[in-house]
Amino acid sequence: SVLAQIDRPIVLVGLMGAGKSCIGKRLSSHLGLPFVDADREIEAAAGCSIPDIFASHGEQAFRDGERRVIQRLLGNPVHILATGGGAFVDPSTRALVKERGLSIWIRADLDLLLKRVSRRNDRPLLQNVDPRAKLAELIELRHPFYEQADIIVDSADGPPEVTLGRVMEAL
Ligand code: S3P
Repeated sequence: SVLAQIDRPIVLVGLMGAGKSCIGKRLSSHLGLPFVDADREIEAAAGCSIPDIFASHGEQAFRDGERRVIQRLLGNPVHILATGGGAFVDPSTRALVKERGLSIWIRADLDLLLKRVSRRNDRPLLQNVDPRAKLAELIELRHPFYEQADIIVDSADGPPEVTLGRVMEAL
């Protein structure tokens, strides 16, 4: 079976609102593999929330912490790892993920991202800006990096099971 070939952590990458954590959790129960959310691990390691890390230490400190946490997590046995939207954009984090993980880009268009990010208000990069303009800018900047993922899956604007099915087909 194809699943027998899964011998590395499966790493979900893509923009905020793409559905990485949602699909990651479902993929985890579907495959019977542990699920880890890098953003939650960073918060646990820092002892404070992501907005607080950005506010007190700045984005670069967050990226450095993110890289260390992801490096540690990639040493774990096979599991499903959801990463924050900027992780695969950082050159050294991307190199680590490419080397040790099987990367899947959960791709979503602007309208879908916008719809999904508006459900939560805990993303420092979307504070005090026009979220549509910011997400459009991030699409321009980041898609060339996400395209380097091993597998690309389009996020469905519908039940998560549809996107999960696409991931399973691609594996
Ligand atoms: C970020 C995405 C967030 C979080 C942080 C920075 C980004 O994760 O890591 O706010 O640079 O795109 P999600 O993609 O899970 O929202």
